[in-house]
Amino acid sequence: MTGELSPIDKAKFVAAKRSVDFVEDGMRVGLGTGSTAAWMVRCLGEMVRADGLKIRGIPTSTRTAELAKEVGIEVVTLDEARWIDVTIDGADEFDGNLNLIKGGGGALLQEKIVATASDQMIVIADAGKEVETLGAFPLPVEVIPFGWQTSKSLIEEFLISMDVLGQDASLRMNGSRPFVTDEGNYILDLHLGRIGDAHQLAMVLNQIPGVVENGLFIDICDVVVIGFGDGKVETRDINEGTVAADRLDFVETENLFTDLKD
Ligand code: A5P
Repeated sequence: MTGELSPIDKAKFVAAKRSVDFVEDGMRVGLGTGSTAAWMVRCLGEMVRADGLKIRGIPTSTRTAELAKEVGIEVVTLDEARWIDVTIDGADEFDGNLNLIKGGGGALLQEKIVATASDQMIVIADAGKEVETLGAFPLPVEVIPFGWQTSKSLIEEFLISMDVLGQDASLRMNGSRPFVTDEGNYILDLHLGRIGDAHQLAMVLNQIPGVVENGLFIDICDVVVIGFGDGKVETRDINEGTVAADRLDFVETENLFTDLKD
């Protein structure tokens, strides 16, 4: 089955597969959103079903909640869990300090709340997500629908004084209608090209009326697990300053791929 996966999907899969090594019996686990996180949820589901792993999962979107239940993970809300041992999630970009752009899937608000409520946040990503400077990926900003055009203009105005290359914002669409988040909000994607000072921008954006949250995750991620198309996996721990590399054996994952045939 792995032969049918593209190199990028293999990379996402091996990162996800390696990341579940961080999960132990009894843990409350934050479950990210996106295609890489979906692999991780499936891997955890297999551990629950095949090895009797006991965890409670805190999903970051309705999509992830549905998948988690489907694969046999007990799902609880953040209010029920109160605190989380480890959160595993994807990212759209990560830099050398493990600062991130997230929200390509539109779930950045719950993702940031869940990651911030976690002892440890682990990001899983294919190697193509690593950048020297954040900003090539459009930065998602969640805004309330009321007066969103005014919020957009205000954001663009603020961006003129920020250390960024571009200042344009676009409303994310879902076909002919605005994309609506799980919280009923809209997403503005900021086409910045390059973000010179991500700390400053993250703080400034959240001061603008109408902005709920932005997709810059600063000093939140602890570990990144980077997957490569040939099965190589690199794990970088920013707190420990360690880097470990190994290769994942696809044979051990046969059951999982059988489950994924649909
Ligand atoms: C979801 O809102 C995002 O933050 C995702 O984690 C991010 O877009 C990565 O998605 P993929 O794993 O699908 O690339």
